[in-house]
Amino acid sequence: MNIMNAVRLHGYGDPEVLVYETVPRPEPKADEVLIRIHGAGVNPADWKMRQGYLKDKFPFPLPLILGYDLAGVVEAVGTQVTDLAVGDEVFAMVPLHQLGAYAEYTVVTAALIAPKPSTVDFATAAGIPSIALTAWQSLFDLAQLEAGQTVLIHGASGGVGRFAVQFAKWKGAIAIGTASTQNLDALRQLGVDRAIDYKAERFEEQVSNVDVVLDTVGGNTRQRSWQVLKPGGVLISTEGAAEPVVAPSTNIRGIAIFVTPHNNIQLRQIGSLIDSGVVQPPKVEKFALQDAAKAHAAIQHEHRRGKLVLT
Ligand SMILES: NC(=O)c1ccc[n+]([C@@H]2O[C@H](COP(=O)([O-])OP(=O)(O)OC[C@H]3O[C@@H](n4cnc5c(N)ncnc54)[C@H](OP(=O)(O)O)[C@@H]3O)[C@@H](O)[C@H]2O)c1
Repeated sequence: MNIMNAVRLHGYGDPEVLVYETVPRPEPKADEVLIRIHGAGVNPADWKMRQGYLKDKFPFPLPLILGYDLAGVVEAVGTQVTDLAVGDEVFAMVPLHQLGAYAEYTVVTAALIAPKPSTVDFATAAGIPSIALTAWQSLFDLAQLEAGQTVLIHGASGGVGRFAVQFAKWKGAIAIGTASTQNLDALRQLGVDRAIDYKAERFEEQVSNVDVVLDTVGGNTRQRSWQVLKPGGVLISTEGAAEPVVAPSTNIRGIAIFVTPHNNIQLRQIGSLIDSGVVQPPKVEKFALQDAAKAHAAIQHEHRRGKLVLT
């Protein structure tokens, strides 16, 4: 039996429940690829899963290897895989019902894997898939954002928000972003048409008649957002189901995004936009795989500006 090092969750709780240990190495099925992982992204959902907040939604048996964003090199391919070869540099989002990226190796369905953008290193690539796909699917699949429309993006300085700003501008839309004071310049560098300091201003007094709101904050921010939408507008939320708090006659809709990898088409397109310099991925802060608990403490309790990645 082949073995590998991985970080496993043995019970729900504080970061110390993450244990770095030796486990069996998975074998790829016919339609899968074994990837040697060089970077695994750490996301807000990871600490929520670790804490047990999502255990009803994702009832995994324990012990469990967390993590769904990765970049690495193809180590072996299943018998039916024809479009990937040993040695290919790749990145992927593993479906949320599977996980397994906090490890030296994992298996992923070949159809979900895209070539790693060649202009970024593995750690940077590992920080991209799920947040970029969330922004893409929110704006284009759910909201069907078009050139000339206006989108208000809450949490525009965050992982999802940064990609959303850049995708909206690439599409030819008008992007308004909210962030805290120290991140406003960064938003302007990303290309927002208007940056709103959510700590100093009330966005609903500054903005009206928008086509789309992308809400990555939830709560009171979402509640106050309905009034800025034009009739027929749509609010997409990363924070669960969103019932419009407006008269039904306005035809305003609320939709919850639940990101899924689908296939590799969107990820390939995102990789191309990065390689052509149209879209900038976030800067990363690296932690060794065995320090996953430290990365979890950081993402849960500290206000980090970069994307955390296990290497
Ligand atoms: N449903 C899904 O499929 C899905 C997929 C991906 C992510 N998510 C969820 O989406 C959320 C965002 O994820 P992320 O990776 O982008 O997180 P992140 O990188 O931690 O970013 C969160 C951002 O929210 C901003 N923020 C906090 N309070 C705010 C407020 N009142 N108004 C405006 N901005 C505010 C912060 O901005 P400042 O630093 O400027 O204060 C921060 O940059 C998380 O809850 C995550 O779990 C859901």
